[in-house]
Amino acid sequence: MVSSPKPWNREKEPFAELISAAAIATRVAELGAKITEDYKDKEDVVVIGVLKGSVIFLADLARHIALPIKLEFIGISSYGDATVSSGVVQITQDVSTPIEGKHVIVVEDIVDTGHTVGYLLENLKTRRPASIALASLLHKPERQERDVKIDYLGFTIPNKFVVGYGLDVAQQYRNLPYIGYVTGA
Ligand code: IMP
Repeated sequence: MVSSPKPWNREKEPFAELISAAAIATRVAELGAKITEDYKDKEDVVVIGVLKGSVIFLADLARHIALPIKLEFIGISSYGDATVSSGVVQITQDVSTPIEGKHVIVVEDIVDTGHTVGYLLENLKTRRPASIALASLLHKPERQERDVKIDYLGFTIPNKFVVGYGLDVAQQYRNLPYIGYVTGA
């Protein structure tokens, strides 16, 4: 008998719900169906999750892609002030196999200024994949400084700091099942 997870104590959470777990599940299923359709005739599809923020989105999305994909992970960190994305990005953990000739889908949690994923896509393109696409759960257009094409977008959100479903505040709350914004309550 599978038991449901115990609900969080919402009174104590310093967050307000922005996107419910149910709304996320519906949208992720739609994105997975679209990717399945777009890649159904392609071989060698590699889905690369950007650590750590994408892991929960990736785990759900991958199970809605009804094709034999491979999963890889890449770790990146930005230099400098953590709250201001500088665009100077370091790869801290690379994918385990070459992507040359492969159809790559990069999975991100959020495109904020666009610097991090912009750098990453540029880096991966130099490795000559057959194609490269970007899936991002969230996009904050008000903050965007660098133009990045998001091929598979979950939700456009306002300029608020959000947490949950993979996104953290000081490394915590990635396991929150919904997307909330910090209210400081
Ligand atoms: P960018 O380079 O400004 O696009 O920032 C991308 C990274 O910053 C994301 O992959 C997240 O890890 C982090 N980030 C940006 N906005 C938020 C937020 O609202 N909550 C949590 N993390 C965020």
